[in-house]
Amino acid sequence: MTDTLSKPILDVLAGQTISPPPVWLMRQAGRYLAEYREVRSRAKNFIDFCFSPDLASEVTLQPIRRFGFDAAIMFADILLVPIALGRKVWFVTGEGPKLEPFDPANYQDLRLDQTHEVLSPIAETLRRVKKDLPKETTLIGFAGSPWTVATYMVEGGGSKDRYFTRVAAYAQAEAFDGMLDRIADVTADYLVMQAEAGAEVLKLFDSWAEGLPQPLFERVIIRPTKRIVDKVRAAGVTVPIIGFPRGAGTLYPLYARETGVTAIALDTAVDPAWADANLPKGMPVQGHLDPAALRAGGEVLQSEVRRLVDAWSGRPHIFNLGHGITPDVPVDHVHLLLDTLRQR
Ligand code: CP3
Repeated sequence: MTDTLSKPILDVLAGQTISPPPVWLMRQAGRYLAEYREVRSRAKNFIDFCFSPDLASEVTLQPIRRFGFDAAIMFADILLVPIALGRKVWFVTGEGPKLEPFDPANYQDLRLDQTHEVLSPIAETLRRVKKDLPKETTLIGFAGSPWTVATYMVEGGGSKDRYFTRVAAYAQAEAFDGMLDRIADVTADYLVMQAEAGAEVLKLFDSWAEGLPQPLFERVIIRPTKRIVDKVRAAGVTVPIIGFPRGAGTLYPLYARETGVTAIALDTAVDPAWADANLPKGMPVQGHLDPAALRAGGEVLQSEVRRLVDAWSGRPHIFNLGHGITPDVPVDHVHLLLDTLRQR
């Protein structure tokens, strides 16, 4: 326990243990909120929505007003980076993202020269949110990690097991690494831009880090993530960086040691006792309530919240989900989560 300082999330990321832990939820701006659906219905399509600072800043602030979370995460999507790289991206309602499938052999066609031009509306969103945010609330920027972004580019959208991407990573290793490097370089520029526009924390989403053998994990997850962290640091950006290699399992500690991230976000499957014993001493953790327990609500939600808070009472901890909130979660369940967390 420490004194209450101005921004609890930044204090935790600086290594302090705070009780109760500060909290925000992945995808906290989203379809489970009626006010989100209302703003969303005003946009022509999802990409347009992300590129409209007016609408995007409004939905970023909605969950802060309603729940008083300790962090706001800018409203955008990890699939804006492929657009900056020159790829077409669109969303089909009910089906998710679609892209023209990309052959890594053509990696030299990926554009490195239009990051600021294409992604500057996101910086504008950050500037607007920053202006209206309560002073104790931390502003988080983010990007997808190269591997996860590459899976969408190569597969042409979401996929069950990223099979074609994994085959390409082995069969076209040199071109594949060239593609990851280009994604990493644009992502680093984008994150620097976000920090300059007011992001106080940066998060790297590697949602599809699951199921890779260790040598491949080191090549396609750790190496490009480290490349981003090194470039962002070389540009003089000092804000904390949270890494989220979802599904990394036993490779979480290697990721935590090797990539240079400040803190690590855990998924629902990670055993806290194992993680505490194996992660670098003192490294802050974020997570990792099962979104399904939040949907279930009631006593099982409360006991799961308490289990995680107890498990992480000895380490700097930011309470969060282990993956994004689902659109079917009643807002009352979010209130119950917060009440349970704050009353113990
Ligand atoms: O967390 C937040 O509140 C900030 C906004 C945010 C979105 N996407 C908005 C969004 C963030 C951080 C993301 C990250 C993202 N996007 C990831 C990584 C995190 C994860 O969930 O694993 C991934 C893989 C994507 C790609 C993506 N975007 C998919 C697969 C989908 C469709 C899934 C679905 O639920 O429909 C999206 C669309 C999307 N991104 C929505 C939101 C709120 C829903 C679309 C809508 O409102 O019409």
